[in-house]
Amino acid sequence: MIKSNFSVSLTLIFNYTKLKTMASNLKKLLSATLLIALCVTITLTVHAQSSARTIALFTKDWKFYLGDDANAKDAAYNDASWRSLDLPHDWSIELPFNEKSPAGTGGGALDGGIGWYRKIFTIPASSKDKKIFIDFDGVYRNSEVWINGHYLGLRPYGFSSFRYELTQYLNYGGSNIIAVKVDNSKQPNSRWYSGSGIYRNVWLVTTNNIFVGHWGTHVETQKVSSQSATVLINTKINNAGSNSADITVKTSIYNDASQLVKSDETKLSISGDDKNEVAQKMIVTDPSLWSIEHPHLYKAVTELIVNGKVMDEYTTNFGIRYFRFDIDKGFFLNGKHVKIWGVCDHHDLGCLGSAINTRALQRQLELLKEMGINGMRTSHNPPAPELLDLCDKMGFIVMDEAFDMWKQGKNKYDYHLDWDAWHKKDMEDFVTRDRNHPSVIIWSIGNEIPEQWAGKDGKDTAGTVIARELGGIIHSLDTTRPITSALNDPTPKNAIFRSGMIDLFGYNYHHEQFKDFQKTYPGVKFIGTETVSAIETRGHYDMPSDSIRRWPTRWDKPIQSANADLTVSAYDNISVPWGSTHEETMKEFLRYPYASGMFVWTGFDYIGEPTPYPWPARSSYFGIIDLAGFPKDAFYLYQSVCTDKPVLHLFPHWNWAPGQTIDVWAYYNDADEVELFVNGKSMGVKKKQGEELHVWWRVKYEPGEIKAISRKNGKVVLTSEVKTAGKPAKIVLSPDRSHIKADGDDLSFVTVKIEDADGNLVPDAANDVKFSVTGEGSIAGVDNGSETSLESFKADHRKAFNGLCLVVVRSKEQAGKINITATADWLQGASVVVDTK
Ligand code: GAL
Repeated sequence: MIKSNFSVSLTLIFNYTKLKTMASNLKKLLSATLLIALCVTITLTVHAQSSARTIALFTKDWKFYLGDDANAKDAAYNDASWRSLDLPHDWSIELPFNEKSPAGTGGGALDGGIGWYRKIFTIPASSKDKKIFIDFDGVYRNSEVWINGHYLGLRPYGFSSFRYELTQYLNYGGSNIIAVKVDNSKQPNSRWYSGSGIYRNVWLVTTNNIFVGHWGTHVETQKVSSQSATVLINTKINNAGSNSADITVKTSIYNDASQLVKSDETKLSISGDDKNEVAQKMIVTDPSLWSIEHPHLYKAVTELIVNGKVMDEYTTNFGIRYFRFDIDKGFFLNGKHVKIWGVCDHHDLGCLGSAINTRALQRQLELLKEMGINGMRTSHNPPAPELLDLCDKMGFIVMDEAFDMWKQGKNKYDYHLDWDAWHKKDMEDFVTRDRNHPSVIIWSIGNEIPEQWAGKDGKDTAGTVIARELGGIIHSLDTTRPITSALNDPTPKNAIFRSGMIDLFGYNYHHEQFKDFQKTYPGVKFIGTETVSAIETRGHYDMPSDSIRRWPTRWDKPIQSANADLTVSAYDNISVPWGSTHEETMKEFLRYPYASGMFVWTGFDYIGEPTPYPWPARSSYFGIIDLAGFPKDAFYLYQSVCTDKPVLHLFPHWNWAPGQTIDVWAYYNDADEVELFVNGKSMGVKKKQGEELHVWWRVKYEPGEIKAISRKNGKVVLTSEVKTAGKPAKIVLSPDRSHIKADGDDLSFVTVKIEDADGNLVPDAANDVKFSVTGEGSIAGVDNGSETSLESFKADHRKAFNGLCLVVVRSKEQAGKINITATADWLQGASVVVDTK
């Protein structure tokens, strides 16, 4: 519950746990309303006493109403009939798919609308002299906030984090009401699924009158080597009291073993109701450098001490690393050459919608790491802070992106309408919030910004002018990272490029022009900001596979060649016309050392943008991993190229019509050749030719098995088999984790497989699987990775899609066991238990 807080004593945690247990026993005696008030009082009291600063999650026990009621802002409003829920919350993901949704299939065919949230909470009388703030990590979109009927403000951009001060409006020792209106009614306002509501975390921050400001530290590392690093820490300090204060600013740096590494003290005096900044410089010797393989982190703990008393304590995580982009040789991290194999992702978490969940994000990053991915582009907006925390901890190179449009819109109601009034504030907040993250290596000022195309006569246009303004904002806040923009006009006439603000020329697509980059742009550094856009449906294969297709061929015509069920072959041979297959771009990327990185569109399928398919397609086909988190075959292509792990991946499945001609592909590494056998008969030995990244055979189908053997110097490295599956016989459940935290937030992702009697995956199984979840957990969502399923993500059952589906279970705050049972007509059911602690 407490974030970044060093001085919570164990006793307090113990007492807190005890208090919570007492509260839960009392539950049987008290009415629900009374209990909510009690829990809130206990929570806030404990946090408020625990240290100079408390940062408490403020996500439990909210009331929600889907609809508009202007009176809901009033403190006295009666919300008794509203639904009770915990944040983060996305109401759109709970709604039925709607063919006529104003969001369009581009927005996932899920409606927006207006929603209201209210929460009653108590602030103890002892907090009278405190400063109290509410921090929203993100609300989609147009949020307006009232405390006890006082209007606090509006925030249009759904991806910005923001704070309001509550101090002067609170009832101390009494009850308070916060009301939030969220207006996502004007649609379309996004090219992908946005979700609706308070979809990220909310925090209540309590400080003394002398405190570090919001995002009030700036840590910069300079002169970094493996022997030494200079750490510069700038701290913004507020004195909200009426008297002048003599403040000692003590900043201590701890390494990731919690050992004190360095400490510095600076004294200053700040007059009443004033603020100031302190710059501190410390040399860290033999620093543990932050890298992809060893993402060492440091903590700077800043204490503001007045008359011997710690008035504030503020923790900043940071890393020590150095990097450079070389015109000819690409990217170097801590002196070591690294190809950035990145992906672009949108923010939804499949069946959880856009409601942020740290474990769900971590699982995504774990899967990407397993595949060999080391970079993440936060397309096309500032991400949840938890994503950057995870990228810091797990070692990802982040391209942090601000906008998908500037003043010129892409959709009728998108952010371009708010541009004039808000872009400066949104840009400043974005950089200020994210600049201490070691994972953030590149700033992107925008994706495929329409203004890039204008003014090819060389004159300044909106494109050059706005790029300079945004670049200027970045430079005023951070001078250590390069600026890019994801450009789809790859010519030197590009207005954004001509602004002079672009440190890394970012190509979106145009892989065939990678080869000419140095001729076209002598002396310019290069990155593939967005690549590929291949389309695939997991587990679906169309023959033949040896020709490359671009769909759609024409925007104004339905796709002639589309399968009736809107599936697309998972052989890597189909892409949108502006993109390429995975292999096409990978070859170019591998060929040119100056290509420092590339970010594949996309790591995961996301809700919305089912290009090039119409309704009922409602989620994208671009992912290397499907919406449920199941890898498509291309996953193993990356794994075979980007990791040292030995790979031999054989596909497709082996259930076809007798005599049918089938293309069999294999991705492999760490071997010289692969031999394929069909029912024991060799179909020949293949070797990747030249720059090829796969091998394939064309064979006649006969039921039985295919088997591939990879060999190096004549010795077997790996074997891989696929067998003809019989009829669906049983369900097999595999939780990604069997032990999770009993915090009401942690998740276990349970893969549901339909197998035949011999344990083979049935590749076309579509059985409707019913889930029963009892004990200390509940269903958080269900999915199967189909881009066209119109089943609810929040149901207690799901049809398998190509043999697989997923149930996600969430823990409760009470420790115990979660019992998950899956049943389906005609099949042997299955049960698993997930422990929560
Ligand atoms: C790009 C765009 C992405 C996505 C992608 C689909 O041009 O930047 O947001 O729309 O196309 O291929």
